[in-house]
Amino acid sequence: MNKKSPIGVIDSGVGGLTVLKCLLQHLPNENFLYLGDTLRAPYGSRPREEIQSFVDEMIDWLVGQGVKQVVVACNTITMLGLENIKKDYHFDIVGMSKGEHLLLKTTQNKKIGVIATEFTIKSEAHKKAVLDVDPSAEVIGVPCPKFVPLIEGEQFSSQELKDAVDEYAAVLKEHDVDTVIMSCTHFPFVRSLLQASLGESVTLIDPADETSELAKMHLEGVGLLNDGPGSVTICCTTGLERVQRLAAREFNIEKCVFKVVKLAD
Ligand code: DGL
Repeated sequence: MNKKSPIGVIDSGVGGLTVLKCLLQHLPNENFLYLGDTLRAPYGSRPREEIQSFVDEMIDWLVGQGVKQVVVACNTITMLGLENIKKDYHFDIVGMSKGEHLLLKTTQNKKIGVIATEFTIKSEAHKKAVLDVDPSAEVIGVPCPKFVPLIEGEQFSSQELKDAVDEYAAVLKEHDVDTVIMSCTHFPFVRSLLQASLGESVTLIDPADETSELAKMHLEGVGLLNDGPGSVTICCTTGLERVQRLAAREFNIEKCVFKVVKLAD
């Protein structure tokens, strides 16, 4: 492992591309190796054991590629517990930030919404993190299981997506939240629809920025920051063209290499 070794970035599908966009801004000189398990997404409504076995396969694959760090660009996998992923690997693993300090800095009325997969909401990890810092805050978790399949399926202009956005936004508005964290990395793909439905008075927070800063800090700490030139390879387990189109919504893909890889037999 050395400075030139890639940074692995994993997600159940295309959601992690919204984090990769942010990582590229913070770490433009790095070699990134993205792996999205598009064949088996969504993960967020699956049982823990199943998600864990898929994640083990992804990590084994990245180990074979000689990564120097893994960014878990998926809240659901992060909620599994990074200690379950770490095993005895020598590289560093960074999970999605829960954003509690930023949320508490932003909110005026201390009513905070968390939107995420069913798995992430059930974990109550965000609620606990916020309440640990400020027990007087109110945290409303809203599972949004309709979003990931619609985003993976590129249904951005569908009535189904608009209805789902309005349905979830209505629950948040009922609770009078003024700050909402998108704790699923797929959701920034529908950020503008969410913002329109919630109204401009609600601040939407994407924890990708804080996560990217953390990834950079860790690499600096171990002296493994690369000095360029950087590269981006995006791997998926199915749907290469769809992944290309979705990546192009987030960043310039001109120099990206796209590949389909096989994880399980
Ligand atoms: N993008 C993922 C997350 O941040 C998971 C979506 C899914 O596969 O359900 O939780």
